[in-house]
Order: sequence, then C-alpha cells, then structure tokens
Amino acid sequence: MLSDVKDQNVVVVQSIHHTPDELLFEYLLLVDTVKDLGAKRVTAFIPYFAYARQDERFKPGEALSFKTVSKLIESVGTDEIYTIDMHQHRVLKSSEVFGIPSHNLSAMPSLADHVQKLGKLEKPLVIGPDAEAEQWAKLAAERLHTDYDVFQKTRLGDAKVDVRPRKSNANGRDVLIVDDIISTGGTIVEAVKILKGQGASRVQVACTHPILAPGALEKIREAGVEDVIGTDTVPSPISVVSVAPLIAEQVKKNGD
Ligand code: R5P
Repeated sequence: MLSDVKDQNVVVVQSIHHTPDELLFEYLLLVDTVKDLGAKRVTAFIPYFAYARQDERFKPGEALSFKTVSKLIESVGTDEIYTIDMHQHRVLKSSEVFGIPSHNLSAMPSLADHVQKLGKLEKPLVIGPDAEAEQWAKLAAERLHTDYDVFQKTRLGDAKVDVRPRKSNANGRDVLIVDDIISTGGTIVEAVKILKGQGASRVQVACTHPILAPGALEKIREAGVEDVIGTDTVPSPISVVSVAPLIAEQVKKNGD
C-alpha cells in the first residue's frame, strides 16, 4: 500500500531496461500519482536510461527518443533526475536535453573496487574501447592507481565495429577493459583481439549496464576473457556490483 506522500520529498528509483516501454509507463503512472496525492518533490534515479542512445535522427524521419522520453519524464512532475553512466555520445551533458536539474553518477569506482577485491589483476592497464570511454577508464584507473588508454572505434553497423589501438601496448600486462554498455559484445571482442595480439596477460571486463544480447557473454568468454562483471542497473548473470550504495549515498547527501 502506498504510504502518505502528502508534503513529502519522494525518491523514485526506476531502471528503464529490457522492457523499456513498460518500465517507462510504470514510472510515469507512479510519479503522476504521488504528485497528484500531494508529494512536495520527486527526485528520480534512473540507473539505466534505455532511450539515451537514440539522441540523433540516424535516418531521416526517425524519432528522437531521448528528447521525447525526457519530456514525458518532466511532464509528470519530476523535479530532479539522476542517471548512472548514461550514454552521452552526441549529447554531452544531460542538461542539453532535460529542462530540470540533471546529474550523471558513475558506477566505475564501485566496479574498480570489485576488480580489486577479486585480486586477479596486477597493476592492470585500463582500456576504454572508444573515445567516449575515456571518462570511465580514467575513473577506474584512478581508483586502481594505474594507467589507462582508449582505443579508436568506428561503428560499421548494429553489430559490427572497427576498433584500433592508439599509443599503449599491453604486452605482458594484465588489462581491465571498461565500458558503459555491453550489448552485442562486438566492441569488447574487437578490443580483446587487439590486446591479445599485443601479448596481454589476463584480461578482465567491467561494464555498468550489462544489456547482453543473446550470445554476447559467450563471445566475450570465447575471446579469452575469464571475468566479465557488471552492475545491477540491468539484471543479468554478471550483475555482481550493486548501485544501491551509490544511490543511497546521494539520497543522504541530498537530505531527502
Ligand atoms: C557505445 O558507444 C557504447 O559505449 C558501447 O561501447 C556499446 O554500446 C557496446 O555495444 P556492443 O556491445 O553492441 O558493441
């Protein structure tokens, strides 16, 4: 039963992942209801924001889903929004899309802590598979007190990417690859091929959102990766790191 929300600050946590339309609609109904019942303020935590990748009309006439969904979220009275490692390729700041205060938290320090806890890598080289991943590679490397680099990636199709190395050489090094999303696994597999070709020792992979299309995990394991870890922004067999402490810490900071 919904407790009394009148004049209360309400925090809503809703990840919009595998059935995004259903989960988005649930969010809209929930927030509209608590506002209708007199809630003073609603702060949303949307750990995985499914529509963020459609931030451009890739083909003429396509929907700009990111913008449309953001408008819907605001329209029910959301006052502030937090996302986690949201895909920001062309839209570089969520404030370009949202009219309400918006913040993007990162799960990379928590993922790096888990890698540390596993204790299998020795001063790993942290690799981001594309330019966008530099922010995550940097965060993970700082947490692990090590160095990082990023590869150059060109997307050739939904499941096909071209990945090329830049300056680092993984010869004889343990490597941690970090990314926001693993979907088909194509990006990670291409990165692993380069690293193994350079003579990398052990390779681990960490991502925030393990979307994992069918066969993705198997492909990555076949490429020679033993440990693939992710967070619970998207439920999956590798969702071993919880983002609950990250959210709880922020709620505490906000005093909600
Ligand atoms: C895209 O730029 C993202 O950061 C990920 O690299 C991408 O979503 C991974 O997709 P996939 O696993 O299908 O290669």
